[in-house]
Amino acid sequence: MSRGSLRGGLYANAIRSGGAQGTFALAVFVLTCLAGAAQADGDAAKGKAAFVRQCAICHTDDKGGDNRFGPNLFGIVGKKAGTVPGFAYTNAFKNRANWEWTEDAIGGWMMFPSTMIPGTAMAVFQGIAERDRDDLVAYLVTLK
Ligand code: HEC
Repeated sequence: MSRGSLRGGLYANAIRSGGAQGTFALAVFVLTCLAGAAQADGDAAKGKAAFVRQCAICHTDDKGGDNRFGPNLFGIVGKKAGTVPGFAYTNAFKNRANWEWTEDAIGGWMMFPSTMIPGTAMAVFQGIAERDRDDLVAYLVTLK
């Protein structure tokens, strides 16, 4: 088991042990810690290459693109989570993901999907390395 997934597991346990309301507050808190502050210096061209390598197997990024194992991600930054038409989200995702995708939230999600939403189908993805995060976010912002 990698250190990343071990850490993710510990956070997930912490989140699970909270009550319903505490759960959301804690998830936001964990996210804020994980996502860090500055996204501004990402390189969208590098982010596109990283997307092709790490996300495209499950996600399309073009307008009106197909849903694959994951939903189409065109226009995802600023969109309410879980609202891509025609995609069957897991119950875990539908029950938890009641936020709008900000740059910070997406940065955290890409690194630790199962920490944010234990039981999500994206948990089969190990998560990206921190060095790719800002580039990927910079690329996702251009998808509009
Ligand atoms: C192994 C397949 C897989 C990979 C690789 C993957 N995802 Fe996902 N992703 C999913 C699935 C499945 C969901 C839906 C989660 C659910 O329903 O539990 C999802 C959901 C999402 C969502 C939320 C979409 C919404 O409508 O709210 C975002 C954002 C996202 N993924 C971004 C990414 C990015 C960026 C990458 C690459 C760094 C990536 N994903 C890599 C499978 C994957």
